[in-house]
Amino acid sequence: MTLHFQPPPPDHVPPELIVDFDFFKIPEGVTDPAEIWHGLIRRGVPKIFYTPHNGGHWVFTDYDDIVEGYRNYEIFSTYQTPVPPIEPFPVMQPQGVDPPEHNVFRRLMAPMFTPVAVRGMVEELEERAKGLIDQFADKGGCDFISDFAAKYPTGTFLFLFGLSEDRLPEFLELAKVFFRSTDPEERAKNVTDIYAVLEILFREKEKNPGNDIASAIVTARDAEGKQHPWQDILNCGFLLFVAGLDTVTNTLAYIWRYLATTPEARQHFRERLDDPDAFLRAIEELFRINSVSNLFRRITHDVEYKGIQFKQNDRVILPNTLANRDPDVFENPNAIDLDRTVNTHVTFGVGPHRCVGSHLAKREVMVSMQEWLRRIPDFQLDPNEPPSGVFGGSVMGFESLKLVW
Ligand code: HEM
Repeated sequence: MTLHFQPPPPDHVPPELIVDFDFFKIPEGVTDPAEIWHGLIRRGVPKIFYTPHNGGHWVFTDYDDIVEGYRNYEIFSTYQTPVPPIEPFPVMQPQGVDPPEHNVFRRLMAPMFTPVAVRGMVEELEERAKGLIDQFADKGGCDFISDFAAKYPTGTFLFLFGLSEDRLPEFLELAKVFFRSTDPEERAKNVTDIYAVLEILFREKEKNPGNDIASAIVTARDAEGKQHPWQDILNCGFLLFVAGLDTVTNTLAYIWRYLATTPEARQHFRERLDDPDAFLRAIEELFRINSVSNLFRRITHDVEYKGIQFKQNDRVILPNTLANRDPDVFENPNAIDLDRTVNTHVTFGVGPHRCVGSHLAKREVMVSMQEWLRRIPDFQLDPNEPPSGVFGGSVMGFESLKLVW
C-alpha cells in the first residue's frame, strides 16, 4: 500500500496551475530523491502549482515564497498539516501550534538546545560516534545507514531522554516503522506504541526526575505554577522523536554519499579537523545542498496570495531543497563550494518554528565526520552495491548505503 490518494482538483485551482507530481514517487533509475524536485524546475513548472496527488496540495518552488510560507503563520499554519491528510493528527508541541500559543513550549525547549547546552553534550557525542565506528572500522566496509546513521541520532535521543542504551533496538524498530512504513494499520499501531512508551517514560521522570530533557519537560511549570497539560507533554516528546531522528540519519547519508564519491571533499575536511570554524563553514554548505526535509503548511482562511486563490485547509509543501538552490539567492547554486561564506539556506526552516535542534544537528554531523575521518580517512561507495531504497516524502533519503575502504 502506497500513499496515492488523488481526489479531483477543487474548483478554485486554475487548470494552468495543475502539475502531475507525486513527491513520494521516485521513478526507476533515479538515485537521488531530491532530483524529482529539481526536475520540476527543469520542466519549467509554474512557481506555485497544485498537484492532485496525495490528497491534493500546492507546492511553492522559489526561495521567497518558501520563506513566506515559513514566516507568515497567519496564512500558512503548522496545525495538523500532514500530506496526505491524516485526521485527527497529534498537535505536536511546539511545531504544530501557531504563535502566540507556540511560544509556551518553544520557550521551554529553547534553553535545552542552545550552542552552550550543545557544547556540554560534545563529549557524549564523541564517545557515541567512536563506539559505533569501532564496531566496523577494521572490517573494510559497512552499511552506513544501519551501522551508523540510524543508530547515532537514536542513541542520542536515548541519552537526551535519560533512557538506557539497552533500549536502542526497541527505539530503532519504533523509528523504522514510523519513518518507513506505508501500511496504515502498522502506522496507527506504531503511533500508539510510541505514545505508550512516552507515557511510561514521563510518568517515571515525574516521580524520579533526572538531569535530562524528559525530566525538564515534565517538571516544568506554566505561568501559574501548574504542570503543562499532560497531552502537550506527550506531544512534545513525540515531536522530539519525530524531529531529530530521520532528519539527522538522512542528512548523514547524503553527506557520506558525497564524501565517498569526492576525494577533494574528504581532503578538505581532513585538513580542517582541528579548525572548527572552517569545518563548520564547510558543513553549512553540505546542509544547504543536502536538505532532506519538505515541510507542510495548511491555509488558515480563504485568501489570495500572489494572485492565486487559496482555500481554507488547502495544504502547501515547502521543499527546502528548491529554496536552497534558487539562483536569485545563491551564486552558482548547484556547485558545492565548501568555502561559501554567505549561506542563508533554509534547511532548518526560518521564522517562529526554526529548528530548535539545529545546533545539536550540526554538532552531530561535525562530530561524526571528525571521528570517522580520523579512523577512516578514505572510503568509497561499494561498487557492487549502489545506494538503494531511495525514498521521497517529508524526509528524503536512502535505506541502504554500502561503503568500502
Ligand atoms: C539535519 C537535521 C535536522 C533538520 C534538517 C531539521 C529541520 C527542521 C525544520 C525545517 C524545522 C522547521 C519546521 C517547520 O517550520 O514546520 C524544524 C523544527 C524543529 N526541529 Fe529540527 N531538524 C533537524 C534536527 C533536529 C534535532 C536533532 C532536533 C532535536 C533533538 C530537532 C528538533 C526540532 C524541533 C523541536 C522543531 C520545532 C520547533 C518549533 O516548532 O518551534 N531537529 N527542524
